[in-house]
Amino acid sequence: MSIEQLAETAQAMVAPGKGIIAIDESTTTIGKRFAAVGVENTEENRRAYRELLLTTPKLSEHISGAILYDETLRQSTQDGVPFARYLEEHGILPGIKVDKGTTPLAGYPGELVTEGLDGLRARLEEYYRLGARFAKWRAVINIGEDIPTGTCIDVNAHALARYAALCQEQGLVPMVEPEVLMDGNHDIETCYEVTEAVLRSVFGSLYDQNVLLEGTILKASMVLPGKDCEEQADVQEVAESTLMCLKSTVPAILPGIVFLSGGQGDEDATAHLDAMNRLGPNPWPLSFSYGRAMQQAALALWAKDMAGNYRKAQETVYARARDNGLAALGQWKGA
Ligand code: 13P
Repeated sequence: MSIEQLAETAQAMVAPGKGIIAIDESTTTIGKRFAAVGVENTEENRRAYRELLLTTPKLSEHISGAILYDETLRQSTQDGVPFARYLEEHGILPGIKVDKGTTPLAGYPGELVTEGLDGLRARLEEYYRLGARFAKWRAVINIGEDIPTGTCIDVNAHALARYAALCQEQGLVPMVEPEVLMDGNHDIETCYEVTEAVLRSVFGSLYDQNVLLEGTILKASMVLPGKDCEEQADVQEVAESTLMCLKSTVPAILPGIVFLSGGQGDEDATAHLDAMNRLGPNPWPLSFSYGRAMQQAALALWAKDMAGNYRKAQETVYARARDNGLAALGQWKGA
């Protein structure tokens, strides 16, 4: 795979006014989302729900790529078209989550490390054959008393770089996701410091392991106060802190940065992205790769009446894509 091809894919992922829809929940995680709205976690329900999302009319106006889960990459529409082919035919890049989730980091209570490197080369080779053109790996950093430790940050960064190098070797663009969680009562300054340390470590590891930044996308968490912090931040403060943190850590050669929503309200996620783009021009395109903030309204509708609300749910997905696409341009007009 040439650098040019990886760079071309990466640039297409962050094309102006477009972002990514993340529907890569593991079977356990989608089970939790389904349980919350009373839907049974069966293979057919997962397939049908993902078909609703992916076949949303005109989705590609604002969506450049979709992150799928292993099971979904092997599934098809009701008419028998594999999802990866359906996406490709509709101008959306198929992506795949390749990490195998987190496990407690031995010796470091309260901290996690992401697994999935063993056998990854062979899995990536297969995913490419099945149509995936980019791959995501999520590292999780918890903020709490005396955590994160430097060790936790560094082992996660090391794993991210190993996965990213393997992706590029196999022709897939790595979407490198170090997520600093919103859980806790820490303030926004603490989130800033932790995010800065994490990004420094991640880019240090990417550099050490010969990962081509021109063919890499960063999936970042925003700089926010913890969910339980008494002092919440306004939109402008979140936008300014996040931008400052990214500018001080992320090389300008990176083709783009997309954000996760991480449990923010739908509109907050959109408003924050919009505000950051209004503060531009920035060194890189800033867009979205939202999971919950793209899906939760549609899931609630579908769960209530799967057949009756099908179109309405798709209209909601489209509206979320359009609003976030406008926010990626700094042109969102508000709710
Ligand atoms: P959220 O936007 O729901 O945080 O999900 C994005 C994602 O892919 C997390 O790994």
